[in-house]
Amino acid sequence: MISVLAAGCGSSDGSTTKKRIIRVALSQSEEHPEYKGLVKFKDYIESELGDKYEVQLFPNELLGGQTKAIELTQTGAIDFTVAGTPNLEIFADVYEVFSMPYLFTSEEAYFAAMNDTDYMDNVYASTEDTGLQVVTWYNVGTRNFYAKKPINTPDDLKGMKIRVQQSPASIKMANAFGAAASPMSFGEVYTAIQQGVIDGAENNELALTDNKHGEVAKYFTYSKHQMIPDVLIANYKFLNGLSDEERTVFEKAAQLSTDTELKEWEKDVETAKKTAEEDMGVTFIEPDLNAFKDKVKDVQQEMLDANPNIRDLYAHIQEYNKKYAGEEK
Ligand code: GCU
Repeated sequence: MISVLAAGCGSSDGSTTKKRIIRVALSQSEEHPEYKGLVKFKDYIESELGDKYEVQLFPNELLGGQTKAIELTQTGAIDFTVAGTPNLEIFADVYEVFSMPYLFTSEEAYFAAMNDTDYMDNVYASTEDTGLQVVTWYNVGTRNFYAKKPINTPDDLKGMKIRVQQSPASIKMANAFGAAASPMSFGEVYTAIQQGVIDGAENNELALTDNKHGEVAKYFTYSKHQMIPDVLIANYKFLNGLSDEERTVFEKAAQLSTDTELKEWEKDVETAKKTAEEDMGVTFIEPDLNAFKDKVKDVQQEMLDANPNIRDLYAHIQEYNKKYAGEEK
């Protein structure tokens, strides 16, 4: 972790300008679509308000894992961070909905629900009282199991230690599949698989290449059990301290970052799969999805019974599921 004590910027005549440094943390590398999106965020803010603000990006968990980075955002030590929604469950349990297995029945439904900004803004406001405000989302594809040995059916998961994100609903999800859920931060996963502390994990294809997990886990099974968005989270006070004009610039910058990220994702996920297969020797398995779905068929209802705060968002998502009914299996 590096220190973030930078203050004003020096200028050539020796005076210091009053530029406010905006710090943005993310787990992913400079190659990741999210980083490319955030470069747009930075560029747009600096092109419009460059005399006042300088945006600095801190990739690769430089400021700590997602839990830590959210804490830093909460206290205002940094201004923005990118994290998966499971990390927000402890701040607002409405976010548990995204951890439900097989929540969305198609990618179209997922995109439509996430792009329904009017509705999502209410969800995004749900962490206000904890000092956090979500501003936009990023697509990070579907989550799938991968491990040192092949997983062809859910029965193969029995007794396997599978890393999940640090959230109650993620643990529930993996246990329901019959695995032994092992929550830990993303940055620890590579070594944990390598050293045999866990047998595998679950994530998208970029985890194999960008995060190099394909070096230590050679079997990737398309269980497609979740589509969990990442979100850009702001320090609430900072965002609300902006003037109306500045706020408009920051919001447009956030939207631009999402537009870029979504486009880059489509390209990068294809490349990642190819690289993992051809250069890293990862085998991709297309299992019988019904067996996986069947294994967790009661989980959605159990979660709805346990948590009233997810019911409205869940019902809202069902409308999109109906509208964009996927290939029902
Ligand atoms: C995805 C997501 C990250 C998250 C990671 C994880 O890669 O983009 O934000 O950290 O999953 O499983 O922790």
